[in-house]
Amino acid sequence: MKDDPKIITVKALSRSFGTLKAVDSISFDVKEGEIFGLLGPNGAGKTTTIKMLTTLLKPSSGTASVAGFDISKEQNSIRKSIGIVFQDPSLDEELTGRENLEFHAILYNIGKEERAKRIGEVLKLIELEDKADILVKNYSGGMKRRLEIGRGLIHEPKVLFLDEPTLGLDAQTRRHIWDYIRKLNELKNVTVILTTHYIEEADYLAGRVAFIDHGRIVALGTPIALKNKMGGDVVSVRTINSADALEMYLKALKWVKATARHDEYLDLTVEEGEKKIPDIVKLAEKHKIAVESISLHKPSLEDVFIHYTGKGIREEAAEGWKGRMRAVHMRR
Ligand SMILES: Nc1ncnc2c1ncn2[C@@H]1O[C@H](COP(=O)(O)OP(=O)(O)O)[C@@H](O)[C@H]1O
Ligand SMILES: [Mg+2]
Repeated sequence: MKDDPKIITVKALSRSFGTLKAVDSISFDVKEGEIFGLLGPNGAGKTTTIKMLTTLLKPSSGTASVAGFDISKEQNSIRKSIGIVFQDPSLDEELTGRENLEFHAILYNIGKEERAKRIGEVLKLIELEDKADILVKNYSGGMKRRLEIGRGLIHEPKVLFLDEPTLGLDAQTRRHIWDYIRKLNELKNVTVILTTHYIEEADYLAGRVAFIDHGRIVALGTPIALKNKMGGDVVSVRTINSADALEMYLKALKWVKATARHDEYLDLTVEEGEKKIPDIVKLAEKHKIAVESISLHKPSLEDVFIHYTGKGIREEAAEGWKGRMRAVHMRR
């Protein structure tokens, strides 16, 4: 997709609230037809970015164009070219699913016949045909989200913005939503820009992902390229109050490519991690550092995030990743 035209161009875009730089000079492009992910923890500036790109919020400085239009000068043209699904639900609960779609189509001046046709298509795409005439208040969380995504597609936008599309949904429903997002991207050829703080979501969906932290983009690339850049396995060592000391000793070794601290863990990037574990244990013993556990895993996007920011993306992620590791517990 190297030569695909750019549908979004962002240059040094910033937004402050008082003294807080919520978005701090970010620049990136989105190519036509791609799914682009903005991944970052709560408060990173994701929603503020989306609000600027969808013309709901004025930038403090910088420029951006969406579907060929300038966000500061051509708001109306942009609004016609995009669909938005926000973090907070905005459906009318007292209407049916079909009525919600109908209402949106009328807002966009879509004529009666065309309306019926598109609503039928969208209901099919989001697999809500048989639930279309039930009041939304009786929908499950996943059905509501599907309907919102469907609604965002009714006026056939070129770009669909999804702000935390699976926030608060259970794991299984989340996976279904991912499949709908992929499907509509493929079938409708709509460019998708989504924000998330779920690492697996960005990993699964995004062709390219930008990591955002404190309003700045700290890394950008395809998930595979970002992981490969880590250049090795990650060995996580948990000590009792001695991570600083151990980091100092290990940093001095040639084969330790990088170190990172997160919570009480010391993460080391090394090649052939399984072969290095005995050496790490010996070194700790030599310096009388008690090692509580050592584990090894192949780099994940979480590791990439830790590498660039020195912290995990969220508490749950820190819990989750313990489960994914091939743990090698040490006897002490
Ligand atoms: N309207 C506002 N007024 C003041 N501060 C805001 C406003 N909107 C967002 N912020 C602050 O800007 C930062 C980025 O927020 P946001 O873009 O919502 O982050 P994210 O969507 O990544 O969680 C946060 O510190 C947030 O508290
Ligand atoms: Mg947000």
